[in-house]
Amino acid sequence: MLKTLSTAVVLALSTAASANISLLPPVKANPDNQPTEARMTLGKKLFFDNRISASGTMNCASCHLPHQGWTIHTPISPANPGWVERRNSPTLINVGYNQALIWDGRAWPLEKQAIGSTKNPLHKGQNIDHLMATFNADPDMVKMFQAAYGNTPNTKDYGKALAVFQRHFIVTGDSAFDLYLKGDKTAMSAPAVRGMDLFTGKAGCVACHDGGNFSDYGFYNIGLKHNPLLDSETHQKVLKFDAKRTGNKDWNSINTDPGRYLITHDKADWGAFKTPTLRNLADTFPYMHDGRYQTLSAVIEHYNRGGDNVKNQDPRIKPLGLSAAEKADLLAFLQSLRGELPEIDMAKWVRNAKGETLDGKALFEGKGTCINCHQAEGQGIPGVFPPLAGNAHVSEGDGSYVAHTILYGRSGTLSVKGLSFDAIMPPIGLQQGLSDAEIAAIATYVRQAWSNQVSAVKLEAVAAQRGDAQH
Ligand code: HEC
Ligand code: HEC
Ligand code: HEC
Repeated sequence: MLKTLSTAVVLALSTAASANISLLPPVKANPDNQPTEARMTLGKKLFFDNRISASGTMNCASCHLPHQGWTIHTPISPANPGWVERRNSPTLINVGYNQALIWDGRAWPLEKQAIGSTKNPLHKGQNIDHLMATFNADPDMVKMFQAAYGNTPNTKDYGKALAVFQRHFIVTGDSAFDLYLKGDKTAMSAPAVRGMDLFTGKAGCVACHDGGNFSDYGFYNIGLKHNPLLDSETHQKVLKFDAKRTGNKDWNSINTDPGRYLITHDKADWGAFKTPTLRNLADTFPYMHDGRYQTLSAVIEHYNRGGDNVKNQDPRIKPLGLSAAEKADLLAFLQSLRGELPEIDMAKWVRNAKGETLDGKALFEGKGTCINCHQAEGQGIPGVFPPLAGNAHVSEGDGSYVAHTILYGRSGTLSVKGLSFDAIMPPIGLQQGLSDAEIAAIATYVRQAWSNQVSAVKLEAVAAQRGDAQH
């Protein structure tokens, strides 16, 4: 009874407080972890360093790729080899503004999350003491930690440096929407302006997606039905493992992702997930905590039909009655929230398992001879050589598929982007005598530097052409 009452009061309050959308204020520093150049450089180095994973094949960018909107364009995130994920990798864009971390809010703040993420068996499964010993044996790392925090490599400063990099580097703003708010009335198209009125009015989106980062950081059940992908034996195991480690007595009966419930053990939070930012959506597809929607049109359809009518659905998720023109306007508005992503030179930052910088791009074009068939930027030759850019095979998994392909080659029929390939790729790795480290560097380059450079805007156009905005 009390619960119902408090929900109603909160609803009334949030309406009265007239939630709104605004420019992004400057990101706040953590007073105990002020950004400096040395800290930023260390954080950036750690972010791309394969040594942070037990397998030596993954770094933070394996699932949060700078060129894929700091997330990865697979619905469910890759995982530490031997494990599977059950959720979509969230974008790290503007993560420094967040007031809760992880889809269910289990982690806080960034300083601690980075350490947890490194130990998490699903993600990197690394022994943190072993990692610090490795860094302490590397004179370059010792120097960088000293410069950043006046100390030799240690767990606390490791988390702090990664936090500085994420909080102060991965920031976007100055989208068409921001320029419009700053007074340039030509920055947004007429449909986008109409869409903004729908967003704050008839469509009711602003109730949860408010402020400069379009999130109130609350947890809501927006009516997403059970995802059958989670029915597989491996996913069921991981769901139970996670429910158990978050202290749920009923862990053995959990067979779906109950979101915030895992943390609060409160039925009122069943199926509730954190409100995500809506900035740079064009770069961060697919959408939702399990990446079930490939396009923004599909998301809009979801809200317009009032969700899937599930248990515990938030009362504000109800049929909206938007016309086709209104849906198009809302889409134009969401697309106007795309700001410039920070520039980053991947070749300079990617490290192999031994911590060496091997220039994957130079190897791709030189010793690896990949460029002979796959061409610069991985365009490929239709029907003869597959494109590597925008190729889902290449961006999925942990990179071992690409490494295996480089070493042993491939033969067979393969269908990529509607084109069929019936060809043989020779075992370049064996032929050219590439070392493991060189193969890893090429694979990392292929996957992180420009694989899947396809934008949501393009996806949207393809979906519209096919007339399948429904999914
Ligand atoms: C194997 C894939 C993978 C790797 C590697 C990985 N992450 Fe993540 N990350 C995820 C997934 C999946 C989530 C969401 C987890 C959940 O909700 O249960 C996540 C969540 C996060 C979040 C929370 C964001 C938010 O808005 O809630 C942060 C911050 C983050 N990761 C940072 C990092 C850092 C820093 C590293 C490297 C130390 C890293 N991640 C490595 C997959 C990965
Ligand atoms: C009751 C609060 C609430 C309302 C109202 C709401 N949202 Fe959401 N939105 C959320 C939450 C929570 C999620 C994440 C849900 C999940 O993954 O389970 C989300 C996810 C999204 C996403 C996916 C973002 C991503 O990166 O995965 C988009 C896009 C979105 N909402 C747009 C909208 C639009 C447009 C409207 C209005 C038609 C709207 N939302 C109304 C709470 C809300
Ligand atoms: C002599 C031409 C040639 C060279 C050199 C070559 N490839 Fe290939 N590559 C191919 C062909 C042909 C295929 C398709 C094979 C098939 O149909 O299974 C392919 C497939 C691939 C795939 C799999 C794509 C998919 O969608 O599954 C990857 C990844 C790849 N190559 C990467 C590389 C890398 C990295 C290099 C350099 C180390 C390289 N290739 C060198 C011809 C080549």
